[in-house]
Amino acid sequence: MSMGRERYEAYEHDRRYLAGGISAPSRINPALGGPLLIERGDGPRLFGADGRTYLDFHNGFGSTLLGHNHPAVRRAIEQVLDLGIVAGAETVYQARLAARICELVPCAEQVRFAMSGSEATNAAIRLARTATNRSKILKFEGHFHGLHEHVVFSAHPPVRDAKPGELLPPLVESAGVPPAFAAHVLVAPWNDLAAVEWACAEHGDDLAAVVMEPINYNSGGIPAEPDFLRGVRELTRDRGTVLIFDEILSGFRTGTSCAQGYYDVTPDVCLLGKAVANGAPISVIAGRREVMAAFSPTGGAAMSGTYSGHLFGVLAALATLDELSAPGRYDGPDGIYAIAERLYDGLREVFARRGVRCRVQGLGARFGLFFGLDPDIPVCTYQEAARHDASLLKRFVRAAIENGVYFHTYDMALGHHGFSTAHTARDVDEALDRIDAACRVGLR
Ligand SMILES: Cc1ncc(COP(=O)(O)O)c(C=O)c1O
Repeated sequence: MSMGRERYEAYEHDRRYLAGGISAPSRINPALGGPLLIERGDGPRLFGADGRTYLDFHNGFGSTLLGHNHPAVRRAIEQVLDLGIVAGAETVYQARLAARICELVPCAEQVRFAMSGSEATNAAIRLARTATNRSKILKFEGHFHGLHEHVVFSAHPPVRDAKPGELLPPLVESAGVPPAFAAHVLVAPWNDLAAVEWACAEHGDDLAAVVMEPINYNSGGIPAEPDFLRGVRELTRDRGTVLIFDEILSGFRTGTSCAQGYYDVTPDVCLLGKAVANGAPISVIAGRREVMAAFSPTGGAAMSGTYSGHLFGVLAALATLDELSAPGRYDGPDGIYAIAERLYDGLREVFARRGVRCRVQGLGARFGLFFGLDPDIPVCTYQEAARHDASLLKRFVRAAIENGVYFHTYDMALGHHGFSTAHTARDVDEALDRIDAACRVGLR
């Protein structure tokens, strides 16, 4: 414990040199009033600087789908060290990873690499604008695509009176964004095909891209309705608009063909990040050859970077994709779907037993907890999700953490939770017991 105290004292001293006292504001867990200070992670567990161990249902914002410290990913990173790191170098590995992604992901005919999800969404929007020679983009209420100027709108807007079929004003969610950016953004309610039809009819000639999370995990976990997704695909194809699936969070949660394979709806371009390299920094822009040709050097859309296709991410991704492609990974008796069922059903039982009103809604390896909402009614729109009880969520997360189970919350956003392939049935049962104990004493 004294080791822990020293660590905390050093941290409290040094954090004065971090802007705002934190290296990324999203690491603050409002249920704790600050970040959980981590020493290390292993498999499904996080080891805190407080000397305590936590079963992890955050997974590094969804990046560690194979769990922490996975041996194959570790070996891949060690291989990069052996290669001398050689940042900014073209090697055989980038092309090999591109070929692997094209094997697995339906829309991928060609690939470009970047470092972060935000960088990928930025590049994809420029790509779509170049390929179509148009400027507007349509995004959806409650969908998060990073924090740059083109997309920092209406990811976590307030509750409003829902009027289906109408476009919504883009609400900027950062200071410092000149109003001119909003003029290029349209916002539609999620799962509302009439609103997309309206956008295409009114703005189709200038609509470069429709961008969406095909499973809206950033609002907890709101799947696309299949007819809606097929409808958007048809509309965008008819109008020559680039359909972009932002699969930075949904990628590999439901299978190696990502959400597009799960729904059997193929976009023109998709973005991958997070789980693709199990926590190593890399993002991917993948799409139809004809659209991808708009990137330089073949096309006019400038896109390059010192760290584009950095070997840490590339080799980690090759190892991760091999692991995720192993037989039984998704459908086996210990696979992602079996663990998901055990966890989601178990959570429903605990909440019912302890009288906690909560809708548990998951698809594949990620899920939402909508406290205060009817457990039996599916959440299909952002506006339904936004009516959740944020205070009860925080009280739950605090109690779970006190009982050794880590969930993350945000101040503004609803948040999303998940598990990794390192979580066994036993780990799930242990977590459920701990969550039961957290709920038993009441959520203060
Ligand atoms: C769907 C989606 N797109 C983009 C991003 C931005 O990714 P990054 O944080 O790597 O910039 C995120 C991050 O949470 C995301 O969930």
